[in-house]
Amino acid sequence: MKKPSSLSSSSHLSSLPCLHGNLCTREAIFCMLLSLLLISFAFLAVDSRNGNSVSWFSLESPLLNPRVRASGDGVLFSRSDSIKPGGKNSRKERLVELHRSELDSRDSVENSSHGSSISLPPVAAPSTAPMPDPTLFNNSLMNDTISLPETRDSGRRDIKLKKIELGLARARAAIRAVIQNKSSLANLPDMDYVPIGPVYRNAYTFHRSYVEMEKKFKVYIYKEGEPPIFHDGPCKSIYSSEGRFIHSMEIDDKFQTRDPELAHVYFLPFSVVKMVKLIYVPNSHDMGPLRRTISDYIDVIATKYPYWNRSAGADHFMLSCHDWGPYVSSGHPHLFSNSIRVLCNANTSEGFNPSKDVSLPEINLKTDSIASTIGGPSASHRPILAFFAGGDHGPIRPLLLKHWKNKDNDIQVYEYLRKGVSYYDMMRKSKYCICPSGYEVASPRIVEALYLECVPVTIGDNYVLPFSDVLNWKSFSVPVSKEDIPNLKAILMSISPRQYIRMQRRVKIAQRHFMVNSPPKRYDVFHMILHSIWLRRLNVQVGPRD
Ligand SMILES: *[C@@H]1O[C@H](CO)[C@@H](O)[C@H](O)[C@H]1NC(C)=O
Ligand SMILES: *[C@@H]1O[C@H](CO)[C@@H](O)[C@H](O)[C@H]1NC(C)=O
Ligand SMILES: *[C@@H]1O[C@H](CO)[C@@H](O)[C@H](O)[C@H]1NC(C)=O
Ligand SMILES: *[C@@H]1O[C@H](CO)[C@@H](O)[C@H](O)[C@H]1NC(C)=O
Ligand SMILES: *[C@@H]1O[C@H](CO)[C@@H](O)[C@H](O)[C@H]1NC(C)=O
Repeated sequence: MKKPSSLSSSSHLSSLPCLHGNLCTREAIFCMLLSLLLISFAFLAVDSRNGNSVSWFSLESPLLNPRVRASGDGVLFSRSDSIKPGGKNSRKERLVELHRSELDSRDSVENSSHGSSISLPPVAAPSTAPMPDPTLFNNSLMNDTISLPETRDSGRRDIKLKKIELGLARARAAIRAVIQNKSSLANLPDMDYVPIGPVYRNAYTFHRSYVEMEKKFKVYIYKEGEPPIFHDGPCKSIYSSEGRFIHSMEIDDKFQTRDPELAHVYFLPFSVVKMVKLIYVPNSHDMGPLRRTISDYIDVIATKYPYWNRSAGADHFMLSCHDWGPYVSSGHPHLFSNSIRVLCNANTSEGFNPSKDVSLPEINLKTDSIASTIGGPSASHRPILAFFAGGDHGPIRPLLLKHWKNKDNDIQVYEYLRKGVSYYDMMRKSKYCICPSGYEVASPRIVEALYLECVPVTIGDNYVLPFSDVLNWKSFSVPVSKEDIPNLKAILMSISPRQYIRMQRRVKIAQRHFMVNSPPKRYDVFHMILHSIWLRRLNVQVGPRD
């Protein structure tokens, strides 16, 4: 029988794009082999319980120590946002599906746990930028770079780093010049799209910054770690943003560099969704193993490479759409406090810092193509004023349901849609789509509304909307405070039909920035996420200031 590590040679796994959500349909033979291997190792695992310490990302990765375990329990995910079109595909049910054929890695994780906490480099944590409001493209923010102590590494490396920082300084200066010189709004030429109009906070600045990113930005992906926990992620489901980004990044050759010396940022390519599926012990309420996986991983890359220590993680980023992303990121204190965390769960009350972290849109992908969920009729063909259907949970929804469920034909608010009623059709028939936070601040409804050209009504505290450093959300959505829920109808009625038409037109413009393409296209969601990371990197200066 082959050694478990034989699977680690299957590195081509990591380069599979999300074109085909299911690996098995694409590479049936490979998949059969994989299943066979998994089954054999399930038996192996019985004997290897007392094995040595096991790490999920070392070459000896014993992905395979875990037993194959069937679990039909989705209760752990009950703290979740759910859509209930006819109660059919609630997130809970989808997660139960995810859990089938789950691998339980309890043994390997217990073995690998480092009892002691990791020692952190003696680097001053980068100063916290006083930026509660994510008003980016803001002079003070652009200046607010963080200087980090001199690295002990070789002179050649320092020179390379200085070159990189010089390039960033030039990009900053170019962007700043556009901010300062509002009179000289000479359009940059662009091959396919020129951002313009009130959808953007500052269209010219965004355009300049985007073009600078295209000219310069380089991302290094650490090669360490084995799929599926590393270099892989879900391509469908409510968490698809995780897998889509990871796969697009892995196959990208424009922004990706294979030479870590040339990188502006370093990507920690783990998937919290896969970790929850493979490492978390259902019902254990113990996230320790997930947090240890991350701190172990950072230990490995911080020992093997100089980059983590030299910036205390500030030029590194992680990405997660899972509800637990923020919590798991606290597995390493510098990951939490210094690194760029790209999160769907962008809850400012849970440590999300808009000047350092990135709000990741939650996109519920059910198929490989989003084509069927794009587009909708004009205002005159939308008879319903406002619509919502979804579970009664979190701090906002009970209020919404209490005030509006079965109260008014114009404000159609449901916990469960009637059987046979299409959720998407309801959105297409409505002028406004209500997008309240659930347990978690993010909701896939916002992107669904943009796709179906329904003006989103966002209700929620503590939520930083995606790309809000670039997009002027108020121009194409209606923010409503929790306190104003009783006034919802009055607020919406007060928006004139002409104003509505303008907002809907802007929704169609903003739509571009949330499109999921494979391969990615300029200005789509993949590039907007990258651009958000680029902006955060511009706020940091690594190495000494001259
Ligand atoms: C920049 O941000 C600071 C701090 O948030 C704020 O006081 C200032 O008004 C902003 N400037 C611009 C031009 O938006
Ligand atoms: C930002 O830096 C520039 C040049 O270094 C300086 O002229 C400007 O005053 C700074 N702005 C702020 C708000 O500190
Ligand atoms: C501002 O615009 C003027 C006129 O277009 C131009 O001559 C000048 O160089 C610009 N300044 C900066 C800092 O870009
Ligand atoms: C980074 O710091 C850690 C903890 O201080 C240390 O163990 C590790 O060897 C350092 N890495 C490098 C490449 O020097
Ligand atoms: C955000 O975080 C706070 C603090 O943990 C929590 O009370 C709240 O329920 C979270 N979610 C939402 C939707 O605000």
